Amino acid sequence: MEPMEISTPGHAGFATQADALLRKSFTYQKRNKSQNCCLLITPLVIIGFFAFVEHYLKQMSAQRGGAVVEIKKPAPWPPALNIPSNTTRAVSSKYMPFPDLPSPSCRVSGNCPATFLLTGTNQSFVMTIAEKMFPPVSTEDPSDMDRLVLATSVPLFQPNYLVDAAFEPDSPSPLYYLQSKCKANASIPYPTRKVKCLEGLNLWRNSSSDINTEIYKGANKQNKIDNKFAAAFDFQNTNKANFNVTLWNEPSTDADILGSSTFTRLPRLVNLASNAYLQVLQGSDTQLLFEFIKEVPTIFSINASVSKTVDFFLRIASFGLLLFPVTVLLSSIVYEKEKKLRIMMKMHGLRDTAYWAITYIYCLMVSLLFVQFFLIAGKLSGLYFFTKNGYTLQSMFYFLHVNWQISFAFLISTLVSTVKTAQVVGSTFMMLICIFSFFIASRVIESTAFSGSFVVLVEMFPGFALYRGVYEFQKYATFAKNGAGVGMQWQNLNDPGNGIKKAMVIMITEWKIMLSLAYYLDQVLSSGSGRRRSPLFFLHCLRRKPSSQEQYLQRNSSQLFPSNDHSDVAQERQKVEQLMQEGSTSYTAICDNIKKIYPGRDGNPAKAAVRGLSLALGRSECFGMLGPNGAGKTSFISMMIGLTEPTSGTAYVEGLDITTCMNNVYTCMGVCPQFDLLWETLTGREHLYFYGRLKNLRGPVLKRAVEEALKDVNLFHGGVADKHAGKYSGGMKRRLSVAISLIGNPKIVYLDEPSTGLDPASRNSLWNVVKRAKKNRAILLTTHSMEEAEALCDRLGVFVDGALCCIGNPKELKARYGGYFLFTMTTTQSNDTEVENMVLSLCNNAQKTYHLGGTQKFELPKHEVRLADIFQLVEDAKSKFPVQAWALADTTLEDVFIKVTRQAQATSSDE
Ligand SMILES: *[C@@H]1O[C@H](CO)[C@@H](O)[C@H](O)[C@H]1NC(C)=O
Ligand SMILES: *[C@@H]1O[C@H](CO)[C@@H](O)[C@H](O)[C@H]1NC(C)=O
Ligand SMILES: *[C@@H]1O[C@H](CO)[C@@H](O)[C@H](O)[C@H]1NC(C)=O
Repeated sequence: MEPMEISTPGHAGFATQADALLRKSFTYQKRNKSQNCCLLITPLVIIGFFAFVEHYLKQMSAQRGGAVVEIKKPAPWPPALNIPSNTTRAVSSKYMPFPDLPSPSCRVSGNCPATFLLTGTNQSFVMTIAEKMFPPVSTEDPSDMDRLVLATSVPLFQPNYLVDAAFEPDSPSPLYYLQSKCKANASIPYPTRKVKCLEGLNLWRNSSSDINTEIYKGANKQNKIDNKFAAAFDFQNTNKANFNVTLWNEPSTDADILGSSTFTRLPRLVNLASNAYLQVLQGSDTQLLFEFIKEVPTIFSINASVSKTVDFFLRIASFGLLLFPVTVLLSSIVYEKEKKLRIMMKMHGLRDTAYWAITYIYCLMVSLLFVQFFLIAGKLSGLYFFTKNGYTLQSMFYFLHVNWQISFAFLISTLVSTVKTAQVVGSTFMMLICIFSFFIASRVIESTAFSGSFVVLVEMFPGFALYRGVYEFQKYATFAKNGAGVGMQWQNLNDPGNGIKKAMVIMITEWKIMLSLAYYLDQVLSSGSGRRRSPLFFLHCLRRKPSSQEQYLQRNSSQLFPSNDHSDVAQERQKVEQLMQEGSTSYTAICDNIKKIYPGRDGNPAKAAVRGLSLALGRSECFGMLGPNGAGKTSFISMMIGLTEPTSGTAYVEGLDITTCMNNVYTCMGVCPQFDLLWETLTGREHLYFYGRLKNLRGPVLKRAVEEALKDVNLFHGGVADKHAGKYSGGMKRRLSVAISLIGNPKIVYLDEPSTGLDPASRNSLWNVVKRAKKNRAILLTTHSMEEAEALCDRLGVFVDGALCCIGNPKELKARYGGYFLFTMTTTQSNDTEVENMVLSLCNNAQKTYHLGGTQKFELPKHEVRLADIFQLVEDAKSKFPVQAWALADTTLEDVFIKVTRQAQATSSDE
């Protein structure tokens, strides 16, 4: 049978479908307010924050200087020495090797001497020098002040002794002047604070190795006590002709991070020794003063490390921001998959190509908008990162990134199936990439230890190429800030060491690879598009097709299989055979021995869900499928609507084979699935407009069709049509689903339990819709409501255990399987047998179908009893014993259904 052209309702072209999908997507996005706000506000907030920090630093710069910091007057006194604080100064203890240290009691009174260790080859000469180190000063004589040996344990934070914290009035620890002997509480006033007298103790040691041992033991907290020394001198072979000194110096505290004590405090220590030596040679009047230091005037600038840190975080933040839309895109793609909306759209004729193309374009628009917003926010913020680099170059790079990002989102979307997972995966990815780029990418890029090809290899890790780009942009921005160059422009692309070109190539390559992979996985994993294809689907065209001979054999053998066909089912089968031979197109749908067998899993045997079904569905026929749960109705419908592929056999819809031309079949069918597949934030009207457009309706025709559909299913009035579908009640959703399945005049409509959960009034109006609809199309309906089947269906089929048990219109079935009256009588239990005997005497073939307490039910064949006789029987019974209740009923469809399914199940379990 050749596929034939469909005249109406007309193929919706790519453009029409694309238009429908785009409109729907933008309406959907418009509703998604919180996400949109988040998307737009985040770059504003983050970039704004950095602009603020930058502005603040500049402001600070301007206040503190920008001007020249000039030291107008040198300090009046020499710089201070570094000494340990009172509690850590060396005292005698059993752990220290020499007993000549001060007693520990000095720690309590707070005046432990600052101890200096000395050694050299000529002890007497060294000790003469030592005596000159802390000359006695008179507090009265101001000229003595120049010779003061000041000392402090306050760390020196700034490499500038003029702002030495020790000289500040509010300094936490005291400022001392060192003397060989101190009077109690002696002090002199310094211009800013009081200076206390402290003993400077010089102790001789026999060798420098003795000193080493002592300093080592003292500093290593033997018994948890600090025993620190102010300094130690090794005068070596110093004599009158020769000055040769080595110095031990320990930075005062850990806070002394910049090694700043070396700036003035260490030279002061050297000066102490040389001054003393000079005085030994020349007498006490000679002074080698260390003072009047003046710093070179400097321009105040923000500490370079602060600026670097800010830049680094700006880079990481921009990088994170650019990756930010991944999660949003991912959840919007996965949403349609999770809610099965993609299958639903496909069943209403949306082709995969159109779907992917439009989803791509839509994602591109959202992302480009975001990137533009990002760039504009950056431009407004005035950050060099944005303003110095070429705008077109940045746009170009981010455009590539956006494409890369979309294909990445597509790829991930094929692997996850719920929005929650998508969000978790998306944000985890973002975080990991940010952390990785922080720890790995930035180091690899900045380090010179790695070869170029290794760096490229690292950049191939998803997201690292973007990081490289951002890194380069910032590098050039920093150059520009420091007055070198004007940021990155097109001509900079070829600069040696500029990795942005390679990053772009990596992005383009990854973009292509991921997009192909996403398409492949989408087809194979089938998470969204209906049928799953084999992992090697692209090789299928190479497979040998069975010859007609083989096909014939296959068909004949499969015909043997359903041997227990009932006559009406067999008739239908013959009819189908005949139609197939004639190639008739007068039927809307013809199922030709269609089968579905699920392969056995986990040791279970294979399950035949549909065991060879043949059915011809005429135009304007409503065929009802009845059957107990699990009979295989849904499996059958799934094959018909293209969700699963038949194991063997096929069906033709409007002459199109569903195994080969399903995409064309989609355009002429409508589906109302068992569970409502709707967008929560779209209104009922928008749903109908969307599916109407997919079915190639447009302009006034579309408008009219939508309005009629809404009126038909009772959703038109009271503004219901413009409420979000997520807020609909179950019944309203159901009615909307039916309206969707009918829009666009499909040739065949599958309604899977359409009236479940409807109130009687809505159900009636729904029935009217279906009755009107079936006038010019075939409808395949499954239902559990016999009332509905009777009201709507022209023909019924009872489907049990994967096969049809009977086919016929409701009246025929009732006549065939009914053919009896149901007679019920309730008496007291003692009269049971009497009732039974009376019934049997009336009709020998009466069958008791039910018995509980005093209630009994009999089936009386219609042709063997007359109604009058039954009434007579009741009168007789009443006269003999009390009759509590009785009833006489004709058979209903429900009875037929129960009977047929019982029979069928009994025979199948016999086999
Ligand atoms: C040590 O120095 C003194 C001078 O202070 C000198 O008289 C003496 O000879 C020197 N001793 C040696 C061994 O050089
Ligand atoms: C240092 O040398 C002197 C003289 O040679 C000696 O008496 C003294 O014991 C030595 N001190 C130490 C601790 O070795
Ligand atoms: C200084 O002392 C060291 C160590 O004792 C010695 O090697 C060096 O020659 C001395 N320098 C002078 C100029 O004496």
